[in-house]
Parts: sequence; C-alpha cells; structure tokens
Amino acid sequence: MEGKILKLSFMESWGIRKMMKKVLIIFAHPARAHSKINNALRAAVENLEGVTINDLYANYPDFLIDVKREQALCENNDVIIFQHPFYWYSTPAIMKEWLDVVLTHGWAYGSKGNALKDKIFMQVITGGGDENTYQKDGGNLFTIGELTSPYQAVANLCSMKWLPPFTVLGIHRGLSDDKISYHKENYRRLIIALRDETLDIDSARQEKYCNSNLDEDIRRV
Ligand SMILES: Cc1cc2nc3c(=O)[nH]c(=O)nc-3n(C[C@H](O)[C@H](O)[C@H](O)COP(=O)(O)O)c2cc1C
Repeated sequence: MEGKILKLSFMESWGIRKMMKKVLIIFAHPARAHSKINNALRAAVENLEGVTINDLYANYPDFLIDVKREQALCENNDVIIFQHPFYWYSTPAIMKEWLDVVLTHGWAYGSKGNALKDKIFMQVITGGGDENTYQKDGGNLFTIGELTSPYQAVANLCSMKWLPPFTVLGIHRGLSDDKISYHKENYRRLIIALRDETLDIDSARQEKYCNSNLDEDIRRV
C-alpha cells in the first residue's frame, strides 16, 4: 500500500502533472438562474483539476471586459472552450463583445499575433431546436456546422486547432434526467481527455459534433 502511494507520487512529480493541459471554459449564460442544461454541464466539469471556469456575465455584468485579464487567462491555458446556449443561431451577446475586444491585432492575429497559436478551440452549445431542424430542409435551414462556421474561421485566423462543437440539442422538447446525465458524463469525459491529451484530435475533427463518437475518439490509456 505504502509502495503504491510512493510510486504514484513519483509518477506525479516526474511528469503526470506536467503532461496535463490546462483547460479554460469561457462560460456565457445571461440568465443562469433559469438555466437547466448549461448549469448541469458546468457542474460536471467545474471541479476537475486543471479546469478554470471564466463566467463572463458574472464577471462583467456591465459588459466592460478586462482585456488584459482575459488575454492572460488565454495565454495561461492550452484549451479554450466557449460554453453557451445557442442564441439567435450564435452566442449570447457578451461572447461577441469578448471576441471584439480580446482578440486584438498583434496578439491574436497578424504577423506578430501568435498568442493563441496551436491552442485548441471548441464550442459547447445547447439549443432548443432538435437535430432534424438543423438541416437544409429543416426548420432552421442550416446545419450547426454552417451556423458555427464563423467561429471555425476565427480559430483558423488565430492559428488555433479547431474542434467541431459539443452539442446538446432538442432542449425545447424536454430532456429526460437520464439524457442530461448522459450528456454530463460525456462532457466530463471529453474535458478530461482534452486535459490529459487522450482525445484523438484528428479523428475528432472529422466528426459532425465532438460528442458524436467519443468511444472511438478517446484513446484508452
Ligand atoms: C434569446 C434566445 C435566443 C435563442 N435562440 C435559439 C436559437 O437560435 N436556436 C436554438 O436552437 N435555441 C435557441 N434558444 C433556446 C436556448 O438555446 C435554450 O433555451 C438553451 O440552450 C437552454 O439551455 P439552459 O437550460 O442552460 O438555459 C434561444 C433562447 C433565447 C432566450
């Protein structure tokens, strides 16, 4: 028993912790008191080691974003996640404001702007409409991939490694407690895999959603 504990602490001091990537979840929900799904997803990951939650509406109720603080947070993390409900086919307003003021020329992009280079970017999106509505011939006319393409373009411009979004759709039809638990568990697995570098990034990039095929895309170690 003692040997086991010793072995673990040696492994930790020799590198297990060093290998861990740091994950920043930039969270935006303007009505958190009424949120069911985003609160549930957030609760599944917020106590994980290596994970920082940056709640934009809580930190900046007046929309006055502290650019230096946000840039430092990004610099200090390896994986940057935007978690939010889908609002008018996009993010809640403060996330757009965040993009406008934080991603400055010479820092995020431009010939000398490489602060975000090679960091992983992913959105975590919850939506009222279900999967069938997000099709060319569905009620929302466009796919989630098409509607989120500006964020893929942002990641590309900033030389980040883009991953398709993790989605929880069909919320307006009502999600059973079992379904919510299933999504929470998948979110937790994905964040741990990103942190511990056990996600096969190349295959995850090919998926429609990052949570389409987690059993295949997360390597067993
Ligand atoms: C202002 C507003 C705009 C919305 N726009 C969309 C939308 O474009 N597409 C969609 O599927 N759901 C839309 N919804 C529904 C929310 O995405 C949904 O209620 C939310 O994801 C539920 O998550 P929560 O339980 O964390 O609040 C919208 C809701 C509001 C209040």
